[in-house]
Amino acid sequence: MVDATVGQGGHSILFGRNLGPEGGIIGLDVDKDSIQGAQSNLKPLACKFILLHANFSQIAEQLAAHHIENVDFILADLGVSSAQLADAETGLSFRTDMPLDMRLDKRLTTTAADIVNKTDEKTLADLIYKFGEDRASRRIARFIVQYRQKQPVTTTGQLARIVSSALARPGKKSWRRIHPATRTFQALRIAVNDELENLEKLLAAAPSLLKKDGLIAVISFHSLEDRLVKNNFKLNGKKGIYDILTKKPIRPTPEEVTANRRARSAKLRIAKRKQVAEKTESPL
Ligand SMILES: C[S@@+](CC[C@H](N)C(=O)[O-])C[C@H]1O[C@@H](n2cnc3c(N)ncnc32)[C@H](O)[C@@H]1O
Repeated sequence: MVDATVGQGGHSILFGRNLGPEGGIIGLDVDKDSIQGAQSNLKPLACKFILLHANFSQIAEQLAAHHIENVDFILADLGVSSAQLADAETGLSFRTDMPLDMRLDKRLTTTAADIVNKTDEKTLADLIYKFGEDRASRRIARFIVQYRQKQPVTTTGQLARIVSSALARPGKKSWRRIHPATRTFQALRIAVNDELENLEKLLAAAPSLLKKDGLIAVISFHSLEDRLVKNNFKLNGKKGIYDILTKKPIRPTPEEVTANRRARSAKLRIAKRKQVAEKTESPL
């Protein structure tokens, strides 16, 4: 199997316990620290495993480099881990003050601070609208540009306060259920890490990497990702490539959400690779 987002190995350990010595896991992650954590966490497993500091958009190239033609299972648990959210170096959290970075892969060269301080107002507003789906994107972008004329935005705390002040309605309680900066932070994280493009590449590569009856399972945490997964499965369903096993996404139970609040927005979709009819040579 490929665990395309191996993290510290939580899912891989659970699957790996059911694999004998003939089974194997190829784990990918863009975060070097996560790969190092997984390396020691997976050691007790009986199965083989290879852990690669690599982007899942490169899944086909990575498997080819390890002479693996096809697999039984591809799992992707998108987004970020709780460890990354808490890590000051990753700079993702608006609840504590951290350098405004957001790169999961430190080989990337553009940080969230670069985008926030160097992008023109209209492009910034478009980005917050497209990747954060925030209807107040223009006002937020205007507040950011006004702020950075005086000093650069360098921390997550500064950005969270700018967005909060852009959305504040004096004397009125916020109607938003979530922190006002949630959508802006989501937009920047998607932009910095090219999240949607990478997911599209993974979804495009999957059919040619799965064996017949092989499964692809994707857990997404926001509607932009879920839409890509849903549409890809639907299209491949129409083409006779996939059987969709989840007509509706699988959602966490209330017990799971109580135990792990971050699971509340998770949606799991699964598809099964169908046999593709082999092309017969024309007798003519
Ligand atoms: C929700 S966590 C996965 C947790 C893991 N399933 C576990 O059980 O421990 C998501 C992981 O995906 C990684 N990630 C995000 N985008 C990636 C990409 N394009 N390629 C590879 N890994 C990615 C993140 O670095 C993070 O470690």
